[in-house]
Amino acid sequence: MQATAIAHSNIALVKYWGKRDVKLNLPAVGSISITLDALSTKTKVQFDPNSTSDTLFLNGNESTGKELKRITTFLEMVRKRANLNMAACVESENNFPTAAGLASSASAFAALALASTEAAGLDLSENELTILSRRGSGSAARSIYGGFVEMHLGKNPDGYDSFAEQIEDKSYWDLRVLIAVTSEKQKKTGSTDGMTLSRDTSPYYKSWIGSSPADLNEMRQAIREKDFQKIGELSEFSCLKMHALALGSNPGLIYWNGTTVDGMHAIRELRQHGSEVYFTIDAGPQLKALCLPSDVDTVKKTLENIPGVQRVIHTALGDNARIIGE
Ligand code: DP6
Repeated sequence: MQATAIAHSNIALVKYWGKRDVKLNLPAVGSISITLDALSTKTKVQFDPNSTSDTLFLNGNESTGKELKRITTFLEMVRKRANLNMAACVESENNFPTAAGLASSASAFAALALASTEAAGLDLSENELTILSRRGSGSAARSIYGGFVEMHLGKNPDGYDSFAEQIEDKSYWDLRVLIAVTSEKQKKTGSTDGMTLSRDTSPYYKSWIGSSPADLNEMRQAIREKDFQKIGELSEFSCLKMHALALGSNPGLIYWNGTTVDGMHAIRELRQHGSEVYFTIDAGPQLKALCLPSDVDTVKKTLENIPGVQRVIHTALGDNARIIGE
């Protein structure tokens, strides 16, 4: 009744922002991401007939309140499916400092979905695991797979056609990501609340939804053709469009700090000097630079020299989520 799983974080090149159903956590747009080797979460789940309530340890410290509630809500789905009436002890560790503002619900819920279903004796397919992970966090569905991954929007009200699928595994293409950490503070508005605010108040919401299928089509094609310039340009476009939508919410959501903006300019300047590098940014201030292995050193040095950049993490593409032991 116990299992340990590991899952890697991911970043979206075509972004997910908005939900078509909040309760089932169904996205309002599809998305395409790459899985990141250097950022992962290892989670052990142990169902215990003698304990009466779930417990959660994050990097060795016991968590209660909101964080524990989110885990218990998730485990309820697993218990129901396995017809199990036992509390669980969940121990989760990130291989990167949690304080770095990189704590990712994507790797966390993918690892939890895999470890908890295995511990409960359920034998779910990867497709089913993506659907389950999505209930914990939309981006987590994509972390079930390595390499290049697409999350499908689906149309059914039950959400069983809203799953993630691998486009190519990590051996398809050696892309690199450099993550410039610009702040260790926790963001003020999380993705879930931010998405609700954008849907309810941003005048750009309708056009965001309407323009999404074209972005997804183009990104799929760019990956198929290994057209790095197209992938990069589309990634910047989707990122800036998502942030325009967030900025246009009321009150506007500003996820960037000054260093994030300096980083965007620095990357565009690098491009003018011949490096093939593009940026993307999620709902926070860290800047992610996408490049080929030959440009890693130049990009890393440039990012490290921007005042306010605390450190730069270099990563290649990562693998599928997997069970690593009891
Ligand atoms: C900006 O997956 O964290 O990173 O489903 O509410 O948990 P919830 O949201 P979450 O949102 C991720 C938003 C994003 C873009 C992306 O990863 O596609």
